[in-house]
Amino acid sequence: MANTPTVVNHPLVQHKLSYLRARETPPAEFRRLLREIGQLMIYEVLRDLPLTTKTIETPLTPMQAPVIDGKKLVLVSILRAGNGLLDGMLELVPLARVGHVGLYRDPESLEAVEYYMKLPPDIAARQTIVVDPMLATANTATAAVTKLKDAGAAQIKFACVLAAPEGVAKFSNAHPDVPLYTAAIDDHLNDHGYIVPGLGDAGDRIYGT
Ligand code: URA
Repeated sequence: MANTPTVVNHPLVQHKLSYLRARETPPAEFRRLLREIGQLMIYEVLRDLPLTTKTIETPLTPMQAPVIDGKKLVLVSILRAGNGLLDGMLELVPLARVGHVGLYRDPESLEAVEYYMKLPPDIAARQTIVVDPMLATANTATAAVTKLKDAGAAQIKFACVLAAPEGVAKFSNAHPDVPLYTAAIDDHLNDHGYIVPGLGDAGDRIYGT
């Protein structure tokens, strides 16, 4: 059964997203906004992280204090636009391990083609968050998650900033076990596989290419 995406509709995220979308926002400002949205989104994505307790001493008394349980997280960035979202997330979870998956969309077929993959060795034992600002056709995201599952990852979530309804349907049908987080679900995909209204090409806007 397909999963229902979590739309992170916090006013701060929505406000920053509007400026991210705007045509006149230059790359430096775009990167800053994307980093801030990454920080806010990872907060929501990790809401159900398990906690344990450890003994600490406050200036007044010892106490059992909550701390995150289990092995460190893995954040997997889908190159290259994923890095723009990854940076902000890493600021909030600086001890996370980081993997990279390089996939590009063939401009004709819109299918995902792998050119790079580097993952932490023990990914099977870790919560894995896959990040890419745009879930458009979902060909790339679907292929990346399949490759991570092949590498042993079992607890996977996917976080993006903008999703197309077509991409949400395709991704959640292919990977119904992978919870999906986005800041907005836009109207549609155009004939070139761009999200409308969207924000244009995320990689180009991050790097000014
Ligand atoms: N990738 C982008 O960068 N933008 C889109 O609209 C779709 C895919």
